[in-house]
Amino acid sequence: MKIMLPANSKMQSKAFTYGVATASFQIEGAADSRLACIWDTFCATPGKVRDGSNGDQACEHVKLWREDIDLIESLGVDAYRLSISWPRVLHKDGSLNTQGVQFYTDLLDELNRRGIKPFVTLYHWDLPQHIEDNGGWLNRETAYLFADYTDKVTQAFGDRVYSYATFNEPFCSSYLGYEIGVHAPGLAKKSYGRQSAHHLLLAHGLAMKVLQKNSPNTENGIVLNFTPCYSATDSAEDVQAASKADQYFNQWYIKPLFDRCYPEIINDFATEDMPVIEEGDFDIIAQPIDFLGINFYTRAVYKADAVTGFSQIDMVDNPKTDIGWEIYPQSFTDLLTSLHALYPLPPMYITENGAAMGDKLIDGKVDDQDRLAYYDAHLNAVNNAIEQGVNIVGYFAWSLMDNFEWAEGYLKRFGIVYVDYDTQKRTLKSSAYAYKNLLANRK
Ligand code: FCB
Repeated sequence: MKIMLPANSKMQSKAFTYGVATASFQIEGAADSRLACIWDTFCATPGKVRDGSNGDQACEHVKLWREDIDLIESLGVDAYRLSISWPRVLHKDGSLNTQGVQFYTDLLDELNRRGIKPFVTLYHWDLPQHIEDNGGWLNRETAYLFADYTDKVTQAFGDRVYSYATFNEPFCSSYLGYEIGVHAPGLAKKSYGRQSAHHLLLAHGLAMKVLQKNSPNTENGIVLNFTPCYSATDSAEDVQAASKADQYFNQWYIKPLFDRCYPEIINDFATEDMPVIEEGDFDIIAQPIDFLGINFYTRAVYKADAVTGFSQIDMVDNPKTDIGWEIYPQSFTDLLTSLHALYPLPPMYITENGAAMGDKLIDGKVDDQDRLAYYDAHLNAVNNAIEQGVNIVGYFAWSLMDNFEWAEGYLKRFGIVYVDYDTQKRTLKSSAYAYKNLLANRK
C-alpha cells in the first residue's frame, strides 16, 4: 500500500514541510550524564510505568545520534522535531552544562549541514527533579526558571535552530501529571491540575518574550494536543456534556493564548479548585506566536453525567490502535476547521500524528500496513482541512522510531522505524518506506 494524496494537493508540493518527531526522555538514554528529572523518579516508583521500565537506556540516542541522523536523512524529510532535556543542559545552580549543550550543538550543526531543519521543543515533560522538589509547576517561580533556561539555551544555540516551541502539550503536563497522576510527577488533585496549567501557560508567555528578543528570526510558538469531543447522542444534555469536556480538556490551553481568558466552564468550579491568577498574567500569556503546533491522535465521545458533568464512553465497536485509541480521521479535519473558525490562528504545523500498532519483526521486516493506512487516512484528513481554507504548512510523523512511551514503557510502538531494544538495531517499517515515497514524489 502507498500513501495517496490528491494530485493537485498542496501537500504534494515541496513548499509543504514534512518531518519526523521525537522527544529527549523518550529516546536519549544516558541518564547518568544529566540531572535527574521527574520521569526518572516516576519510573522508579513501583506501579507507575506498566512494564516497570525507565529512560536510562531508551534508544541510546546520545550514543547513536550520528546513525540516527543518517536514518532521518534517508527518509528524505525536510525537518526533524526534537526536544531539549532541561536537566541535560543546566546545572542545579542554573548555569549551563557545557557538555550537555555540546551534545545538542553538534546535533544541530549536523542537521543543518544536511539541510534538515531543526524544530526544537524546549519542554517535553522532563522537568529537573530539584525544581519539582520545590513545588514544580505548582510553584509560580518555575515559570521564571523556565524563562531563564530559555534565555540561556537560545543564546548558546545561536542561529542553529529553525523553529522553537516553548512547550509540548501543557494538557499532559498539568492534567495527566498533576490532576489525575498518571504521568510524572504523579500528583492528583483538581486544583493542582488547573494551577499547574496556569503556570505552564505563564511560562510559555514569558519564554515567548525571551524568544522574540534572543531569536527573532526563528519561527516561535507552542505545541498543543487536541482530542476533539463528540456527544454520544443528539440530546441537549449530551451535547452540553461534550462541550464542557471540550472546554476542560482542549480549549483550556488555547483560549488564553488568543482570548486572554479561560473557557466559561471555569465558572462551574468550586472556590478551592480555582487557579490563582495574577493581574497581567493573560497579557503575558497571549504573546503573538509565529506558528501553532497541533498534535492529534484520536477523538473522545461523551455523555452527560449527573455527578461529574460529563463522562467518556468507549466506542467499543470502532477500530482502535494498539494503545486503545479510536481511529477516526474525520475528527482531525473537524478539529482543524473548528479551530480555524474559533481563533485568529497563525500558520499551523501538525507537530505529531501517528499510531501505536502491534508490530512484528519477521525475517528482518515489519510490514505495518495498519499504521500505513492510519497515515494515509490522516494525511488526507489534513489535506481536506487545507482545502477548506485552513493554513497548515507542515506535518511531522510521531515518531521517527519506537521509544519509551511514558506510562506504557516500551510496550507500545509508535515508530515508523522499529527499534530492537536489545541490539539497538533500527529497521524501517513499511510505513517508513511509504512516507519516504510520498516525500520523494513531491513536485
Ligand atoms: C503525545 C506525546 C508524545 C508521544 C505521543 C504518543 O502525547 O507528546 O511524546 O508519547 O503522545
